[in-house]
Amino acid sequence: MSEHVAFRPRTTASPSAPENEPAPEPGLLEFPQDRTCPYHPPAAYDPLRSGRPLSRVSLFDGRSVWVVSGHAEARALLADPRLSADRQNPAFPLPNKRFTGLKDRRTALLGVDDPEHHVQRRMLIPSFTLKRTAALRPRIQETVDRLIDAMVARGPRAELVGAFALPVPSMVICALLGVPYADHEFFEEQSRRLLRGPERADVEEARERINGYLRDLIERKRRDPGDGLLDELVTERLERGETDVDELVSLAAILLIAGHETTANMISLGTFTLLNHPEQREELRADPSLISAAVEELMRFLSIADGLLRVATEDIEIGGVTIRPDDGVVFSTSVINRDGAVFADPDALDWHRPTRHHLAFGFGIHQCLGQNLARAEMEIALATLFERLPGLRLAADPDRIPFKSGDTIQGMLELPVAW
Ligand code: HEM
Repeated sequence: MSEHVAFRPRTTASPSAPENEPAPEPGLLEFPQDRTCPYHPPAAYDPLRSGRPLSRVSLFDGRSVWVVSGHAEARALLADPRLSADRQNPAFPLPNKRFTGLKDRRTALLGVDDPEHHVQRRMLIPSFTLKRTAALRPRIQETVDRLIDAMVARGPRAELVGAFALPVPSMVICALLGVPYADHEFFEEQSRRLLRGPERADVEEARERINGYLRDLIERKRRDPGDGLLDELVTERLERGETDVDELVSLAAILLIAGHETTANMISLGTFTLLNHPEQREELRADPSLISAAVEELMRFLSIADGLLRVATEDIEIGGVTIRPDDGVVFSTSVINRDGAVFADPDALDWHRPTRHHLAFGFGIHQCLGQNLARAEMEIALATLFERLPGLRLAADPDRIPFKSGDTIQGMLELPVAW
């Protein structure tokens, strides 16, 4: 089953194309495309895998941009300061009409170039070291155990996205930031709307609501500080005038959103993928020490953040082409992470390969800040799930389970399981 691409995405929120959208440039592949199997790159990306490291594709608004599919070129470009992440640049490429509002305001960290980016990132680094993450492991384990206890008590069936995959990162990021967990449903709902709400209005409203909430929370923390990351930033940076409330709201919002749906989708899609690869699952069950290699390979194999975005500010010659100023550049991580020149037999799920070179957490100055935390969450969640529920299986026909359509973050919309 690992190689087949028979699945078709079934989305619960599939926006229909508005009538006044310009037609894409003829002959160019449209980007992004829907995956046909939730864990393989879209079959429509096959031409991007033919050896050329950069190609032209067209976006929803008819604009042509570069798509990078070669691994060496992706590493070079993601580390190249001539590519900008500034979403307010009018030439910044957008993958979907829903995100047009991104240009109206600054996005902290992810949307900022050096030297400003360096200053923001330096404020957060101490909270994301391996040591700080290791200290969170017992709390993650406790959360995972509690959620599985609740599933077992209500079992022997569950919808795994709602019962497990989403609450794990939600609890963890709330604990890390010092956001009251009582408000987690609010955040899950808003971050879901932000990432997959069908209309631009959904995205805008969700963003406003998250920012409003965080602004109030920061004011409360100024009066009555606690022990989370946000409390530290308030007492150590805000009160000393090293940052302002707007920047803090934006940083906290990025952390909440970046840490939520991504990790949740890796847990649900990782579970689905393992359930569809019985040999590998059995190997993992027999030797639980393989879990960190398995998580790393799942990161490469699933490449859920599929479509990193940049805009060029100068001429860049690479891979036999010249990228011009204002050209949009999109990185298809699902194709890059299956570059046969770097990964032997790239379409196989094989955690005995060296996979540390994958770009599923990005590369360069914007490389995922939360990757140590994400790894800890995925390792604990997947290892404990398969250990506690050895009979775990899909409770529906795999090709009828809905997964996300082509978008910025891939994953399962639902995952009915039984044990
Ligand atoms: C498995 C889960 C995750 C995946 C697949 C993932 C993926 C990524 C990717 C690909 C980027 C780079 C984006 C770009 O270059 O445009 C990124 C950046 C980022 N991620 Fe993650 N991420 C995950 C989990 C997390 C978690 C748990 C957190 C925080 C709690 C987090 C926080 C961030 C932040 C703050 C950035 C921006 C860093 C910067 O611009 O300097 N991520 N992530």
